[in-house]
Amino acid sequence: MAFLQLLSCLAFVAAASGCGVPAIEPSLSGLSRIVNGKDAVPGSWPWQVSLQRGGSHFCGGSLISENWVVTAAHCSVSTTDKVVAGEFNLNSDEDNIQVLSIAKVFKNKSYNSFTISNDITLLKLATPARFQNNVSPVCLPSAHEDFPSGTPAVTTGWGKTKYYALRVADKLQQAALPLLSNDECKQFWDSKIKDTMICAGASGVSSCMGDSGGPLVILKNGAWNLVGIVSWGSSVCSTSTPAVYARVAELLPWIEETLANN
Ligand SMILES: *[C@@H]1O[C@H](CO)[C@@H](O)[C@H](O)[C@H]1NC(C)=O
Repeated sequence: MAFLQLLSCLAFVAAASGCGVPAIEPSLSGLSRIVNGKDAVPGSWPWQVSLQRGGSHFCGGSLISENWVVTAAHCSVSTTDKVVAGEFNLNSDEDNIQVLSIAKVFKNKSYNSFTISNDITLLKLATPARFQNNVSPVCLPSAHEDFPSGTPAVTTGWGKTKYYALRVADKLQQAALPLLSNDECKQFWDSKIKDTMICAGASGVSSCMGDSGGPLVILKNGAWNLVGIVSWGSSVCSTSTPAVYARVAELLPWIEETLANN
């Protein structure tokens, strides 16, 4: 009882700061495309956005405030692309969505397309997102905050549910997966793993093509924190190989600087 009260109290404190607390509760029970993920509860990952070009989903992203979305540099977003917030089923017009224009794209200039390090881009929206039940921001971690191996995390996206699928998923998928230490991850990927990356998975689930730019989150003190940005991994979305995410806590100084100057 006391523990439950503490949990709801922490959730309340987090809610007061306005990030990382979905108005629509995600269902985490039985959490095992994302390969081998499952449909999310509609609206329960309210920071998840779909980046669309010509009406088609090509990458994910996360709202970090009403004016800013974080995604992956390798998504090569341009100002003619759209940010769609509040989306659940890409093939239905029943979701209460907001189609937002992008005023400016800020790619971290240290992004290296060969090593895929510093794989982060910030999008400044032309008009602010309106927060509602299915649209609200995720929390950011502290700079250089480290997360122990084994920490349970969740990743979400409309990416392919099989690497050979011709299309991305219609409904937002979610999967629970553990974080790895970079040393553990190097056992799979050697020196490809840089300090600005964090690995998760190898646990029977995997991020896959189309999930790129989307969130990897952990629950901390009752609020979801953005630990990673879907970046790269096995070309066949193998569920026994960890997927690699941009490490937000290491990229935080650049995020803060970019937000402060723009
Ligand atoms: C990219 O982000 C990293 C991490 O914050 C930062 O050290 C680096 O200076 C940034 N690159 C540029 C060119 O701003």
